[in-house]
Amino acid sequence: MVVRGIIGMMMISIAWASGCGPTEPPVSGPEGTYLLHCAQCHARGGEPGGPSKGMGSRGPDLSRVGSYKGRNAEYFAAWIRDPRSVDPQARLMPAFKDKLTEAQIRELAEWLAAKK
Ligand code: HEC
Repeated sequence: MVVRGIIGMMMISIAWASGCGPTEPPVSGPEGTYLLHCAQCHARGGEPGGPSKGMGSRGPDLSRVGSYKGRNAEYFAAWIRDPRSVDPQARLMPAFKDKLTEAQIRELAEWLAAKK
């Protein structure tokens, strides 16, 4: 019984991880942070353009952002803390240094850097 329960749990987590569940379960880790704080402006992996919020606040598609030149975890961490510190031209994306913990920022940065 216990073993069957564990296998059941594993199957559920696999379904969650591959995103093929019928409903959207709460996701934790960097992806959960992303869904909560970023996905309203940014496209999600594999999906075209995220919904726009406010006037033209649509962010770029990040599904392959880790493969662009110079985009590594350091870059993303700095960007998420404060986009203006990296690109003074960035206008729409808010700084997250007061909204996310440093650990969340690092985790997200590494997750983004791995998106190739
Ligand atoms: C209010 C909308 C909005 C939210 C929320 C938002 N972004 Fe952005 N993001 C943008 C826009 C717009 C840009 C393009 C630059 C600009 O004009 O600010 C951008 C650019 C980026 C870039 C591209 C940097 C590069 O390589 O040039 C990354 C990476 C990024 N965002 C990550 C995130 C992450 C991670 C979060 C959540 C913690 C997030 N964004 C939340 C709107 C948003």
